[in-house]
Amino acid sequence: MRITIVKDYDEMSKKAAEIISKQIRTKPDSVLGFATGGTPIGTYKELVRMHKEEGLDFSRITTFNLDEYYGLGPDHPQSYHYFMFSNLFNHVNIDPKRVHIPDGLAKDVEAFCKKYEEEIKKAGGIDLQLLGIGRDGHIAFNEPGSSLTSRTRLVALAEETIKDNARFFEKEEDVPRFAITMGCGTIMEAKKILLLANGEAKSDAVAAFIEGPITSQITASILQMHPDVTVIIDEAAASKLKRKEYYKHVDRLFRDLEKKT
Ligand code: GLP
Repeated sequence: MRITIVKDYDEMSKKAAEIISKQIRTKPDSVLGFATGGTPIGTYKELVRMHKEEGLDFSRITTFNLDEYYGLGPDHPQSYHYFMFSNLFNHVNIDPKRVHIPDGLAKDVEAFCKKYEEEIKKAGGIDLQLLGIGRDGHIAFNEPGSSLTSRTRLVALAEETIKDNARFFEKEEDVPRFAITMGCGTIMEAKKILLLANGEAKSDAVAAFIEGPITSQITASILQMHPDVTVIIDEAAASKLKRKEYYKHVDRLFRDLEKKT
């Protein structure tokens, strides 16, 4: 796990966009896994800027989103469909036919989830998966207790997550109680993973998934078993890491080495 600790949200977003744009430039037909929430908004803004000012080309990119609220259609302003199109896809030259987001209105949810998994495989697997993290240590909507080998499926949201996500809705009762999400097993099959976190509110989850035991109580902790994970966090999110200075030291050494090669 490569851990980069940055000053603030802005620096985190710029660094994340750099990694994603490098992936796109090196492999223009990359399969990218995208996430929603407040965390990646700055990254998407920067990618849009790179598209407009530097010609970053999304025309051959395929995408798969992590999750969607169950019961919300693509036109609902709080759906993850709506989020992705308004924050990224509407502003870059992506082919909407290559965009995949779980269908919150799927009638046969089980069949839909199976098909979603098959589509990821058919596309050749996810090259780079972007992730945020919930305060309870969840990735996508894999709440505490989710199997660490779980696949795309219907899940119930934890109370803490409902409360956290209520800020995007008019009132807490409006937050859907269920979601369709990629599983931990699905996420673990991505070739590379990039996890972002900022703010003090994420500091316990960050310390737990990096330095704690691998446990289904903190589903992000399964990332310790993945061979290619980059974590970019700001000082506030990093504040409870015991070996913070060590991670900074390692990151500095690698940065110097990369400058020379
Ligand atoms: C939701 C999403 C996660 C996201 C998390 C944190 O639960 N399903 O993918 O990482 O919220 O969101 P935020 O970035 O707004 O803190």
